[in-house]
Amino acid sequence: MPLRVLQNRSMALFERAFDRKPEIVCRAPGRIEFVGNHTDYNGGLVMGAAIDREVRVAMALRTDGRRRFCSEIGDTVWEHAGELRPVSGDAAWTNYPTGVLAAMVARGLRTPVGFDYAVVSDLPRGAGLSSSAAIELASALGFLGLTHQEVSREDLVNIGRAAENNFVGVPCGILDQGVSGFGRSGHLVAIDCRGPEFSTVAMPSGSRFRVFNTPSSHALVDGLYAARHRECSQAAEILGVSLLADASLEMLEAKRARMPDEVFRRARHVVEEIERVRSMRAALAAGDLNEVGALLTASHRSSQHLFANSTAQLDWLVDHLVPVGGVLGARLSGGGFGGAVMALTREDFGDREANRIAATFAEAWGQPPTVLALNTADGASTVPPVC
Ligand code: GLA
Repeated sequence: MPLRVLQNRSMALFERAFDRKPEIVCRAPGRIEFVGNHTDYNGGLVMGAAIDREVRVAMALRTDGRRRFCSEIGDTVWEHAGELRPVSGDAAWTNYPTGVLAAMVARGLRTPVGFDYAVVSDLPRGAGLSSSAAIELASALGFLGLTHQEVSREDLVNIGRAAENNFVGVPCGILDQGVSGFGRSGHLVAIDCRGPEFSTVAMPSGSRFRVFNTPSSHALVDGLYAARHRECSQAAEILGVSLLADASLEMLEAKRARMPDEVFRRARHVVEEIERVRSMRAALAAGDLNEVGALLTASHRSSQHLFANSTAQLDWLVDHLVPVGGVLGARLSGGGFGGAVMALTREDFGDREANRIAATFAEAWGQPPTVLALNTADGASTVPPVC
């Protein structure tokens, strides 16, 4: 969707809900996880891309201390009074902005006492494209702007992650917020999660992303993500390292008899996946597109067989995409257990080819996937509040 349309929508929703104009509008992009599945909270390496689908948040201060929130879904205005605490039900999405406020308070930053807040988005939710990190970063920029404060990009992404970890309750790593914050058009974002340290790497020329979002959307809060997190911590403990990024395959083999088989497999995935990200950087630097594609598909196979966070639909998509001309490689992107497959394609893989795969998927599974052609984009920013 053209960004102007999204800007108009954010202004229109704000005016409809609150009968006045916003003071500030901020945007933050969703992300594709390029390679590095479940490596981030293990202190490893990961690469992602900020995409041209995003969240826009419009805000204005209030003097009466009321905190009012509105999204396009139902146009309902929700109000939070008193202490900041997570809520459930239809208003649960407001935990993202209120979690950001709580994270700002924890860092000693000022927060607006009262405000009106409206959010719009062209990011499909539950598709593994990280609409949650996008709403966190756009909200954080908005609250900082309303209170005339600035923080570094690192602090901005850490505020978003703290909201997710401590308020929403998902023990995610830094990938989603890091990519949404450090994204750069035409580039991938590379993160060494131990620092964390952020850098950008040019996208391989002549390549683009296609995302196939399966009808069974994923839900990280379901506990499966947290279960994998626990298995990784268990492996690290048995190996005597604080993070799996410090483990090697030799160390793992040496302690294999002392860990349950599934814990061994989760750890082997993480150790090999971190190595794959390293190989990916080398393949990108050498412009070796075939190797780039092979590494992407190898990453999926490892998620499928070792980390066990894929689904039959995601595997089906990878199986059917990889042999098609113009597809360099394909893999599940994000937490897994549903969500989306991303394919890195050459220009000769167009809408016709993508639609053919979607139609065959629908024959097999009863419903088509949503297909998105995505470009890279810049990270979170403030935009002038004009239509
Ligand atoms: C989700 C989390 C990220 C990361 C990925 C898996 O997207 O939010 O922090 O762990 O899953 O790589």
